[in-house]
Amino acid sequence: MHTLLSMSSLRVFVTALAIALLVTMGRVAPDQAEAARAFFVFGDSLVDNGNNNYLLTTARANSPPYGIDYPTHQPTGRFSNGLNLPDIISEKIGSEPTLPYLSPELTGQKLLVGANFASAGIGILNDTGIQFINIIRIWKQLELFQEYQRRLREHIGEAQAQRLVNNALVLITLGGNDFVNNYFLVPFSARSRQFSIPDYCRYLISEYRKILMRVYELGGRRVMVTGTGPLGCAPGELALRSRNGECASELQQAAIIFNPELAQLIQQLNIELRADVFVSANAFQMNMDFINNPQAFGFATSKVACCGQGPYNGIGQCKPLSNLCPNRSIYAFWDAFHPSERANRLIVEQIMTGSTNYMNPMNLTTLLAMHSNH
Ligand SMILES: *[C@@H]1O[C@H](CO)[C@@H](O)[C@H](O)[C@H]1NC(C)=O
Ligand SMILES: *[C@@H]1O[C@H](CO)[C@@H](O)[C@H](O)[C@H]1NC(C)=O
Ligand SMILES: *[C@@H]1O[C@H](CO)[C@@H](O)[C@H](O)[C@H]1NC(C)=O
Repeated sequence: MHTLLSMSSLRVFVTALAIALLVTMGRVAPDQAEAARAFFVFGDSLVDNGNNNYLLTTARANSPPYGIDYPTHQPTGRFSNGLNLPDIISEKIGSEPTLPYLSPELTGQKLLVGANFASAGIGILNDTGIQFINIIRIWKQLELFQEYQRRLREHIGEAQAQRLVNNALVLITLGGNDFVNNYFLVPFSARSRQFSIPDYCRYLISEYRKILMRVYELGGRRVMVTGTGPLGCAPGELALRSRNGECASELQQAAIIFNPELAQLIQQLNIELRADVFVSANAFQMNMDFINNPQAFGFATSKVACCGQGPYNGIGQCKPLSNLCPNRSIYAFWDAFHPSERANRLIVEQIMTGSTNYMNPMNLTTLLAMHSNH
């Protein structure tokens, strides 16, 4: 009885959703027919799609089984079994995936698609990820964005280039490494001796403000900012810090302080700029949903990584000789720190259509529809 009722209401809901989607897509389509929207990506390994493969660094995803579910079934530098967040967002906005900025293929018409400047290992702070040696820190990513814009202007002229950048979607994903690969990297790290967690979060936010204002100065007008995920729940942290499989509390606590402050910063910036330039994505909650209740989302586990070794497959890197789970789509985590493609898809679903609990002040569907009238 219960099941039947919920099944039929589910069907009504799904039908309503399908209609809503059709209506929305119908509205967006003419704009996209003119030109697909450009997409620019900044940040760390959650969104790097291959830049680090061009650099001398250990922060790389360039050996199998990375990429095992990618269309080419080859590693590409993405920290995923298949697609990563930006790939799936590109798919949703009807664009081809962006190329890594360092790719030699990024010339001519390809420039119009946008570019991905992200580099695994980096953070908000310049001293985050120093152990990875040669990575593209965020300020350097923004310099490269300027260089990109010079190249774009040569290709399509000043006015068109400006329009492309202003209309583009921008994604920026930063912050996790400032905890995992800086403050909490070793006991008594320099930053942990300098700051309490609340003070460190305040410092990160003040530095993040400068970064976001620079993105605005460089022409970003639809900028989606993701906070950190639930850092203490990653298999890599469970392996190091958890007794019974519970999420590591000090990292969780840090994320719980940092993320709301970031959301508040974004609200503040929009007030100052008198426009909804920035949108905050509550990546913490998006991840917690399936971490707390993996079965409800079709996962067998949210604790054990698909690829790795040691407890929770959370020790060391994912390498050719690591344990590899037989079915990647029933694991929330692909490696010790990064979601599987299927988990990435769940996250992007919330990014596209989530309520204000997940996307503030609006989800991506609304953001893109709103501006397509210009
Ligand atoms: C980080 O580096 C950039 C240049 O690479 C510099 O402009 C900025 O002031 C540095 N930030 C801090 C807090 O030192
Ligand atoms: C993996 O699991 C999913 C979900 O349970 C299932 O639909 C799919 O068929 C499985 N794939 C393989 C190769 O077993
Ligand atoms: C997307 O956001 C809009 C505006 O906030 C909201 O009306 C809509 O319900 C959201 N989409 C879904 C599927 O919740």
